[in-house]
Amino acid sequence: MRILVTGKNGQLGRSIQKIVNTDTKIDNSQSPNHFIFVGREELNLRSESSISNYFDNNKFDIIINCAAYTQVDKAEQEAELANQINHLAVKQLAIIASNQQAKLLHISTDFVFDGESNKPYLETDTPNPINVYGITKLAGEKALKTVMPMNALVIRTSWLYSEYDNNFVKTMLKLGKEQDELSVVNDQIGSPTYAADLADAILEIIKHKKFRDISQTTQIYHYSSEGEISWYEFAKEIFKIEKIECEVNSITSQQYPLPAKRPRNIIMKKDKIVEVFNIKISKWKSSLNTCMKILKQKQ
Ligand SMILES: NC(=O)c1ccc[n+]([C@@H]2O[C@H](COP(=O)([O-])OP(=O)(O)OC[C@H]3O[C@@H](n4cnc5c(N)ncnc54)[C@H](OP(=O)(O)O)[C@@H]3O)[C@@H](O)[C@H]2O)c1
Repeated sequence: MRILVTGKNGQLGRSIQKIVNTDTKIDNSQSPNHFIFVGREELNLRSESSISNYFDNNKFDIIINCAAYTQVDKAEQEAELANQINHLAVKQLAIIASNQQAKLLHISTDFVFDGESNKPYLETDTPNPINVYGITKLAGEKALKTVMPMNALVIRTSWLYSEYDNNFVKTMLKLGKEQDELSVVNDQIGSPTYAADLADAILEIIKHKKFRDISQTTQIYHYSSEGEISWYEFAKEIFKIEKIECEVNSITSQQYPLPAKRPRNIIMKKDKIVEVFNIKISKWKSSLNTCMKILKQKQ
């Protein structure tokens, strides 16, 4: 099995690499599963020709697409580029996967929803994105399903953080050490998700018979950590674990205007991924502790 992972320098791509490189059960040199990790240098999703040239010379059994245009605010100004990477490139990957008879596992976002529901979102609920990033990610999902009605799988996730890259946890740790007080929004609710947990789930899924069997209908699954909190509560917990004495002030989104609108309240129901693939869902606090322990060791 040749398994391609895009976005090798991103949070999720690096988290998958870490497991593949350290898990003795997945020996990349010996095992029948050979992982190939690529970044934009090898496969630039910005360019149709870069994508087709890459796949003219490379064939795969599974493609895991972790690459994306993820700058939610900047996307408001760069809608065309965000659309190319999150929509048109995904469509092209789906066409290529179909032609190569490869399975495609693609990552999407809870931002396809508007966050106005007070109930946890099901995979079948109607999306209604409220910013450019969400619109382009939804367009990618739809194109993928049209081109590949069979043999693809989409995982929607939320509030990813990890020991890599810039993310909320790392930003709070940095600011909390520099400042005596910080203001953080308390009216956006979601489920922080540790990228290593999602990476584990992806590696479980691609081993699973229900994914590997040919002619599976393309499905969407929700995956995030268990629990729901605001960014304010998340910041407080980060400081508590790290014993950082920084006052956290609760503010509203109106008091912290950003270029892109944010959904107010998104909790996703994860029953489907648990039932179909037997995936374990971690509690957000326990995963946060794990990530922060690793960050501490790195210091
Ligand atoms: N981060 C979140 O809070 C969050 C929440 C929900 C869903 N998601 C979804 O989860 C997935 C993984 O997110 P993440 O946090 O791991 O993202 P990330 O850390 O921002 O990584 C995204 C990767 O995409 C690559 N990329 C961007 N433009 C590219 C291009 N033109 N060609 C090739 N590669 C390109 C980036 O490459 P460079 O390193 O070279 O820039 C980066 O490695 C994405 O699909 C994202 O939409 C993320």
